[in-house]
Amino acid sequence: MPQHILVAVAWPYANGPRHIGHVAGFGVPADIFARYHRLAGNRVLMVSGTDEHGTPITIVAEKEGLTPREVADRYNRIIADDLHNLGLSYDLFTRTTTLNHYRVTQDVFKTLFDKGYILRQETLGAFSATTGRTLPDRYIEGTCPICGYTEARGDQCDNCGSQLDPTDLINPRSKIDGNPPVFKTTEHFFLDLPAFADRLQQWIAKQEHWRPNVRSFSLNFIKDLKPRPITRDLDWGVPIPLPEYEHRDDKRIYVWFDAVIGYLSASIEWAQNRGTPDAWRDWWQNRYARHFYFMGKDNIVFHTIIWPAQLMGVFSDGRYAGSAAGAFAEVPLQLPYNVVSSEFLTMEGKKFSSSRGVVIYVKDFLSRYDADALRYFLTIAGPENQDTDFTWAEFVRRNNDELVATWGNLVNRTLTNVHRTFGAVPRPGALQEGDQRLIDEVEGGFAGVGALIEEVRFKAALTEAMRLAAQVNTYLSEQEPWKVIKDDPERAATIWYVALRCVNSLKILFTPFLPFSSQRLHEYLGFDGYIAGPLEFKEYAEEDGRSHRVLTGNYGCWIGRWEPPRLPIGQTLRQPEPLFKKLDEKIIEEELERMRAALQ
Ligand code: MF3
Ligand code: ZN
Repeated sequence: MPQHILVAVAWPYANGPRHIGHVAGFGVPADIFARYHRLAGNRVLMVSGTDEHGTPITIVAEKEGLTPREVADRYNRIIADDLHNLGLSYDLFTRTTTLNHYRVTQDVFKTLFDKGYILRQETLGAFSATTGRTLPDRYIEGTCPICGYTEARGDQCDNCGSQLDPTDLINPRSKIDGNPPVFKTTEHFFLDLPAFADRLQQWIAKQEHWRPNVRSFSLNFIKDLKPRPITRDLDWGVPIPLPEYEHRDDKRIYVWFDAVIGYLSASIEWAQNRGTPDAWRDWWQNRYARHFYFMGKDNIVFHTIIWPAQLMGVFSDGRYAGSAAGAFAEVPLQLPYNVVSSEFLTMEGKKFSSSRGVVIYVKDFLSRYDADALRYFLTIAGPENQDTDFTWAEFVRRNNDELVATWGNLVNRTLTNVHRTFGAVPRPGALQEGDQRLIDEVEGGFAGVGALIEEVRFKAALTEAMRLAAQVNTYLSEQEPWKVIKDDPERAATIWYVALRCVNSLKILFTPFLPFSSQRLHEYLGFDGYIAGPLEFKEYAEEDGRSHRVLTGNYGCWIGRWEPPRLPIGQTLRQPEPLFKKLDEKIIEEELERMRAALQ
């Protein structure tokens, strides 16, 4: 029975182009997982989009003299192009500024409000002393009351990870002009997290398959839950769906409250645009469906506590009344099955920072290097379980000494020899014991590599696939078919056939990680059709006459299966070319120089 798997990928902010640290944390791991499960025959729905509300966007807009929507439009394009070029196979990559998203967000808010899970409270809001306008939390800086870090922000402390309110900070000051903010009373809405404390506690305690840091962080967080503000003094965001706020434009729903709802609203949007408006329920209202969330570690609390509380609250009494989308009747929504959070990537020993020039944007990276080379590096040397450092020297080394030297070399020597000598898949003689052993070992990769991917251990999975490729290289070096051919052409044909069969299996084993090169290899081997591709952009219209571009794809036409593929004897090969490029060491200095130049 195919499983329904929701691959829920963190929504990148549309306030600037994304750097490789971002895609290391959420994009590449999620895509490996989604591609694998599709190949394995499961029903995957991979959704995300750009996160377009919140103060970061309004700040950029102000600086550049644009409206927030213009800023969001611009970076949504750039980001979606990047994700497309990296081969991230979203079923839907949309935006949080769609009518559909507004409607679903307001439904969830209204339902929680009607059920008493949203409280009204008078609070102290921070306003700029100079302009009188709202000062967003993250533009207030001060000393963390918990750890004493002097550059804590009004929303959180990056040193100890505590979630903060601006009024918690000691000596608060505006990051924009350095002045202390003025605090004034204003009404806000709060999600009553303490009402969910017991249920969350019991639920998280059971999640023994979560990565240990995710579970312990969440259990710890839950010990001290407070109601959490879910509105802000802003004019950019989803309007508060209550009559007294309908005509006011000074308060909006908080960006994090709406962004996590995006997983649900995007699923609904996907279903509607496919002409099967109820199809989202197969993932959301099916208790056998499994939901996997992918993100960086600074997002954990939103996915293990706040979003689950929202989901629990909507269905607390098994009933969902009054949905404008007519959507959620009767059946509870699925909670996350796993929250796969990764650690941080640093760049040449420093935190990524656009303003300090310590950065390489996905777009720039892909203009000079191949997507698979980046995907390889981020998987084999990325921040899966601990913070890791990206250095150009290490990128070149991993590319040349591993990707090119092992997998690239195996493909290259096999295809060039077979193409030159036979032009087609040669007919083997009887297989010797060692031949069969190698084939069995490589084919065992479907179980071995597959199990590791299912356990979200991508680095180990790719390492295992590389180990199998290295075994085939060893086999060729020992068998020396290029020598054998002089005295025993039939035996040489057998050896090449065995190598080719292994390469053909490895092509599938590498597909989740390196989809572009696997597809090319598939074609060199003489096959047609797509193992696992391609992605496409579509324009989706909305009722108000606007439309937006989404990233999607017809993944139902993939011919790849997660099993040893057939290799027809006599199949004509196409002219092969190297799968990967060896990088010149001199690019290391060039790239470092580029970074330095950006600093001036
Ligand atoms: N925009 C957030 C960030 O970049 C992630 C939002 S994930 C979602 O850190 F769940 F809220 F959508
Ligand atoms: Zn702190």
